[in-house]
Amino acid sequence: PVKLGILTSGGDAQGMNAAVRAVVRTAIRLGAQPYAIYEGYQGMIDGGDGIKKFDWDSVGSIMHRGGTLIGTFRSKEFRERAGRLKAAANLIEHGIDHLVVIGGDGSLSGLDLFRQEWASLLEELASDGRITREQAAAHPTLMIAGLVGSIDNDLVGTDMTIGADTALHRIVDAIDDLASTAASHQRSFVVEVMGRHCGYLALMASVAGGCDYCLIPENPPADGWEEKMCAELKRGRDAGRRDSIVIVAEGAQDRAGNPISSEYVRSTLEERLGEDARVTILGHVQRGGTPSAYDRWASTWLGHEAAKEVLAATTNSPGMVMALRGNRVTGTDLMEAVQDTRKVPELIAAGDFDAAMALRGGSFTE
Ligand code: F6P
Repeated sequence: PVKLGILTSGGDAQGMNAAVRAVVRTAIRLGAQPYAIYEGYQGMIDGGDGIKKFDWDSVGSIMHRGGTLIGTFRSKEFRERAGRLKAAANLIEHGIDHLVVIGGDGSLSGLDLFRQEWASLLEELASDGRITREQAAAHPTLMIAGLVGSIDNDLVGTDMTIGADTALHRIVDAIDDLASTAASHQRSFVVEVMGRHCGYLALMASVAGGCDYCLIPENPPADGWEEKMCAELKRGRDAGRRDSIVIVAEGAQDRAGNPISSEYVRSTLEERLGEDARVTILGHVQRGGTPSAYDRWASTWLGHEAAKEVLAATTNSPGMVMALRGNRVTGTDLMEAVQDTRKVPELIAAGDFDAAMALRGGSFTE
């Protein structure tokens, strides 16, 4: 049978297990033999126990669990050709020439590079005698499919990435919790949320949590924003509101590109409004715990389509990322999605905030 490897890479995200389960079971249904590759690309480089045959039961009772059961890693070695050579040799040893990777834009662009280099990697391995000419000839092409696993929801071309919905639930739960203690003391809370260069989690959590002010990288505030923020909060207080919450995306910045820290926001509220203000940095709690129902079913659907896509790929297929768009799973050119994603910070730096927001796509731009 065709041998299909699956790995999770980069930051873990809730829903990755459901995706792995769906890829494994769909592959089996379609007559392929799945292999789990542990610790992301590093497991592929290290070989040995890092590459394991999976059967139907290997992925039983994992859908409701957080994180990724097959481990993840941000592999520096895979960024070098020497690392990719080792990885290719280990795949050939197992006869694996189909790969599904669940990760963020860095992991997915690494996957596409690996696909492009595949023939030359095999040629080098064969001429060094590390694999036979027959082995190289039996696996002329690497078939790939990507899935976007990241709580940040930062990949252009997809409405929701695996893990973003659960992370949003974590944040909104925390906002609800903080609101009661804030109201008791008539305090202001500055809540810092993850997202790297993307403000999706911050913006959506602000709306869902009924917060007072929000700072995101895609919409850097103009000079004098501190005054505007303070006026907003004061309006709430004057109207009798006992708690105020400001959400700061970890990538928030001003128009000159200087980071806006949650501590700066806190001291501004304290100094200008005389507020008793506190900072809560939610951190990795946002990536932890059981996946939401959405992340379970969406990841199952995505995993199913990714396995079908990669097993139907022909030698001419470009690398595809399977993504949710308008409540449908669609295949998008992987490198186009990655390149568009990388354009967003460039547009922000150039001051074209509308174009940056428009590229993010999906519900984020509404
Ligand atoms: O990409 C997911 C993410 O959680 C980001 O939101 C955050 O900036 C980063 O990963 C944290 O990385 P690490 O887990 O390596 O500290």
